[in-house]
Amino acid sequence: QEQDSTVRAGSVKQQLSRLVLSSLRATVPDVEVEPMVEVSAKFADYQCNNAMGLWSKVKGSGTSFKNPNAIGQAIAKNLPSSDIIESTSVAGPGFVNITLSNRWVAQRIQDMLVNGIKTWAPTLPVKRAVIDFSSPNIAKEMHVGHLRSTIIGDTLARMFEFSNVDVLRRNHVGDWGTQFGMLIEYLFEKFPNWKEIGSQAIGDLQIFYKASKHKFDNDAEFKARAQQGVVRLQGGEEKYREAWKKICDISRSEFDLVYKRLNVVLEEKGESFYNPHIPQVLEELNNKGLIKESEGARVIFIQGHQIPLIVVKSDGGFNYASTDLAALWYRLNVEQAEWIIYVTDVGQQQHFDMFFSAAKMAGWLPDPSEKKFPKTSHVGFGLVLGSDGKRFRTRSTEVVRLVELLDEAKSRSKSELQQRLNENGKIVDWTDEELEQTSEAVGYGAVKYADLKNNRLTNYTFSFEQMLSDKGNTAVYLQYAHARICSIIRKSNKDVEELKMSGAISLDHPDERVLGLYLIRFAEVVEEACTNLLPNVVCEYLYNLSEMFTKFYTNCQVVGSPEETSRLLLCQATAVVMRQCFNLLGITPVYKL
Ligand code: ARG
Repeated sequence: QEQDSTVRAGSVKQQLSRLVLSSLRATVPDVEVEPMVEVSAKFADYQCNNAMGLWSKVKGSGTSFKNPNAIGQAIAKNLPSSDIIESTSVAGPGFVNITLSNRWVAQRIQDMLVNGIKTWAPTLPVKRAVIDFSSPNIAKEMHVGHLRSTIIGDTLARMFEFSNVDVLRRNHVGDWGTQFGMLIEYLFEKFPNWKEIGSQAIGDLQIFYKASKHKFDNDAEFKARAQQGVVRLQGGEEKYREAWKKICDISRSEFDLVYKRLNVVLEEKGESFYNPHIPQVLEELNNKGLIKESEGARVIFIQGHQIPLIVVKSDGGFNYASTDLAALWYRLNVEQAEWIIYVTDVGQQQHFDMFFSAAKMAGWLPDPSEKKFPKTSHVGFGLVLGSDGKRFRTRSTEVVRLVELLDEAKSRSKSELQQRLNENGKIVDWTDEELEQTSEAVGYGAVKYADLKNNRLTNYTFSFEQMLSDKGNTAVYLQYAHARICSIIRKSNKDVEELKMSGAISLDHPDERVLGLYLIRFAEVVEEACTNLLPNVVCEYLYNLSEMFTKFYTNCQVVGSPEETSRLLLCQATAVVMRQCFNLLGITPVYKL
């Protein structure tokens, strides 16, 4: 029972940190210090790096330690005994190398197989988070930037949800603003029967948007009507509210096509939702003395920024920033979120910096030196480039093009699958439906992975050839790697569900040990990806894991060997962890390829 509690209480790093903390308290009782435990590159499995820092704190204060190495020795000696650690050694200026017990690593893996991967979920310091992502604008283009936001935001949401955080997935759609006067009046003019029309009637809302804008710019009478229209809409006039809703519905059904393809769930709370809260929020900021008059507008001056943050335009209207302030107020106070995360392109960095600063000035967010939460983060990302090195554009700028992009990924992966199957002379026992599902899983997965595998801040080049290649660091390669493991298990004719209960894992071969150690790092990896909001950390882990598996499989015979049971369980554990990674990345794993 003792063992059960240590095989499960948090990530390996968290568990070792607890042991190190208790050793530090014994070693230097008078010094406040956080345990520093890292994965070790060469000498051992993990490493404690506290000695040098401690030495600079205690030397010259009459300490009995002679040098950092002596502190390292003491830290090693004072580690409480546990079944986690096999041995320690101290190197150079006090690095404590920690070698994990094979038996414990094996037990941890088996415990996961028996009790589920969820037992490897990291523990995060927040209970509820808002993730604001996708967030396209009504009647405007949903472009690849929104696609990136959708993919990255969904992955972050999945990682937090896996880590038992209550995630509010928010679609902050641009559904409010002066452009609606013009859109509504144009709707009345073009479609006298506008109440009856379905979403197909308007066809491409973007063309509709452009046409109404053209009229607005060239027809004074229409312009005046449009400006009146905004007033009537904001005044709550029934007919205008209904027309507004109609336009939003049409846009929404186009956005939903993309979400459905990507299997992404979002809850829409658009800009209009927060509009009624703006006056009261601005009043609070005003009472705190933050709002000033500048060139007819109402603004907040923020240290370190040349221009102020405009919160009421000179015409008296609210804007993007006033809405974001109200939304943040709502998320903090009504929704009680502790971490509020915004996923947009890096181009909006300044906007977020400024309004986060305003929130700090208002005392909504704590001084980070005192408390870490609640906090806000902007998850910025770079551009998607075309093969010409310029900003990637779907051929026209229509909303539906994003859907077509995904359709193309699917049809390309489908024809490659068909070709491959024919070459192998065996149209695997797939029904049409299975072929459809597999090409979707592979095609959409390829688009997502190509986006997620790079550090999100870098620009990346969109290339179907690259993302659908079965070589290199691609989703297709990883899908094959996973399917191969499944096939090894199938072909063994052993029931792993039964083996995991009756058999045991041993890690005597060096490649088994390396694989085992990497498997149990999973929780740390997810923790790091969540803490730093970097999905590429999970991609990197997934790719490395498949490489380590290959090495293991090349050097360790599985089926028919004396170690068959243990090795099949390692295969199974690798497959389970890979599947969970796919899952976190929003990719549907394929079992047969
Ligand atoms: N609608 C905005 C755009 O398309 C993104 C909104 C991001 N979220 C936010 N709370 N500002 O650029």
